[in-house]
Amino acid sequence: MNQRIYSRIIGTGGYLPEKVVTNFDLEKIVETSDAWIRERTGIEERRIAADDQTTCDLAEKASIEALKMAAINSQELDLIIVATTTPDKTFPSTACLLQTRLGNRCAPAFDIQAVCTGFVYALSVADQFIQTGMAKKVLVVGAETLSRITNWEDRNTCVLFGDGAGAVILEASTKPGILSTHIHADGQYEELLHVPSGVSKRPLTDDIAERTMSMKGNEVFKVAVNTLSSIASETLEANGMVKEDLDWLVPHQANMRIIMATAKKLKLRDDQTVITVNKHANTSSASVPMALNEAIRDGRIQRGQTLLLEAFGGGFTWGSALIKY
Ligand code: COA
Repeated sequence: MNQRIYSRIIGTGGYLPEKVVTNFDLEKIVETSDAWIRERTGIEERRIAADDQTTCDLAEKASIEALKMAAINSQELDLIIVATTTPDKTFPSTACLLQTRLGNRCAPAFDIQAVCTGFVYALSVADQFIQTGMAKKVLVVGAETLSRITNWEDRNTCVLFGDGAGAVILEASTKPGILSTHIHADGQYEELLHVPSGVSKRPLTDDIAERTMSMKGNEVFKVAVNTLSSIASETLEANGMVKEDLDWLVPHQANMRIIMATAKKLKLRDDQTVITVNKHANTSSASVPMALNEAIRDGRIQRGQTLLLEAFGGGFTWGSALIKY
């Protein structure tokens, strides 16, 4: 029988823009309060890209860090995938722009758009390429400048989001790595969380509400909590594992209450859950790889441990990855 090929994480990187916007800063532009934001979301501050910084700029910095940790050069990559909802251009893809920046010349490069689940979708696609032998070294990035599609006059949304990028390098290996990925979507929820206009919708509009995120927060909240709990069970069952087999939950960082509800269902202690939402807010596709990068770099996540990554986002989309690190 052929030996199974796994996707093993050999490098991670992350990048946050320098500009910090605190809840107190937001109190000055919309009717909100630090206390309300902390209590309902766990968010204290977020980073916002400079006016001349793009998603690709953030992706590049995170990718360079990941390449360094993996101790490989960019020419060795044979696939580049960027998950983003906020690309630099309608085309070429941000992945193609990133490929040139990194000095890689012929690896296939493409973007994936699954909003906050984008990184988990990209990881799932990368894993299929590795398992089938189509790729051996893959760069998977989640990068966003959500501040560009945020309505800074809408308190329902503007307090929740931030900018950033996270990157992971996967390598084909006979040692365990990604054990399974699970991705789903249900487009019937389109209007609960969306940016109403896009490039093909006519008439073109200058209306800020059409060009920025609109969300029915409490309805999103309910579906997110239920869906994340069911995908955690689906993932454990698919691998013949139980809750107690998990060492870490690396969740999408949308809201502390959603994260804690998932951790509680999994009977995980607080110190087994990676939290960055307080400092990063919701960075969409960047949130899971940035959280993973932080916990690997500060030594909390150790080789041999079992990690559950999960995410939920617009679409709705949701997904998970079970990883032996
Ligand atoms: N500051 C102060 N008050 C605010 C506010 C803000 N930034 N945003 C909303 N409010 C008000 C509302 O207007 C409402 O006031 P009303 O009762 O007078 O109408 C009140 O707070 C309660 O609003 P509600 O939406 O029911 O609050 P909530 O407890 O559900 O918390 C969210 C709101 C957005 C924090 C919460 O629903 C949430 O996190 N949802 C998930 C969002 C998410 O994660 N989206 C991304 C998924 S990837």
